[in-house]
Amino acid sequence: MLDKVKEHIDKVVAFQADSQEQIEAFRIEYLGSKGLLKQLFAQFKEVPNDQKKAFGQAINELKQKATEKVEDLKSRLESQQEEAGIHGDLTRTGTPMNIGGRHPISVVKNQIIDVFSRIGFNVSEGPEIEDDWHNFTALNLPEHHPARDMQDTFFIQTNPDVLLRTHTSSVQVRYMEDHQPPIRTISPGRVFRNEAISARAHCIFHQVEGLYIDKEVSFADMKQTLLYFTQEMFGKSKIRLRPSYFPFTEPSAEIDIFWGLETETDYRITKGTGWLEIGGCGMVDPAVLTNCGIDPEEYSGFAFGMGVERIAMLLYQIGDIRMFFENDVRFLKQFSSAI
Ligand code: PHE
Repeated sequence: MLDKVKEHIDKVVAFQADSQEQIEAFRIEYLGSKGLLKQLFAQFKEVPNDQKKAFGQAINELKQKATEKVEDLKSRLESQQEEAGIHGDLTRTGTPMNIGGRHPISVVKNQIIDVFSRIGFNVSEGPEIEDDWHNFTALNLPEHHPARDMQDTFFIQTNPDVLLRTHTSSVQVRYMEDHQPPIRTISPGRVFRNEAISARAHCIFHQVEGLYIDKEVSFADMKQTLLYFTQEMFGKSKIRLRPSYFPFTEPSAEIDIFWGLETETDYRITKGTGWLEIGGCGMVDPAVLTNCGIDPEEYSGFAFGMGVERIAMLLYQIGDIRMFFENDVRFLKQFSSAI
């Protein structure tokens, strides 16, 4: 009999429950008005006298342990529920968040950087507010040079030496001033021109300009580099370089890629020719190298520049450049999966 009580004590000590119902069932089983303890106490008088003491102690211990167990389990369950109330159900799926996306200009800019970095170009950046030297004079555009009109300039205050850069060629000047060849760098950035805003032109846009300077760099090197770029960026493998003029390069050319005439859109965007202009390029004028502290007798190089908006418009078939600056979520949302 005593052994049986001891077995019950072990059982009570080991008992675990995780619901109110289980605890209540346990309480009734041991401490209820018809519970086990009631029965054991009733049996007490039948126990032989010499065993009464040990039996009495054992059932008292059982009662104490069972009472403690019920209290303990109850308070544990309560604190669990309290915690759940504070922290919520930790296993529940979270509230869905609206995840933003990169701006299409950033997406395209990053793609361009990626393509050029694979052939050893690094990225250089410079200030958007420039001085006359870096934006014009060092680039062979002295004061009163008519070619300054090619890029209508925003001046800050009335000081003609403080202006918003009209191209990122200014960054290339800074880079050449600070580094000796070999130079292989691209300069992405925002540029500003005082132009009327329309579907095709904006007073703020983005450029990526490239600069390659080393010994014996040739026009053929430039053409190959640009061809590599158009293949990687657009999957088009035909380009042509059309003679042009820039004060800082000689000879200079416009870069055209053969887009094809397969669809109606191709027809429209190439004006029926199949060719599309994507930027300008040329061999860096020796005077520019001299201005920037590089010896033109020893080194030569090429430079190129292109508009990021224009490329993004081509890749995503966007008909109006103003879309990039309006921050219309319906427009931007379409690029949220791009990286
Ligand atoms: N800086 C020129 C522009 O903004 C582009 C260009 C860069 C042309 C380098 C030739 C060489 O129009």
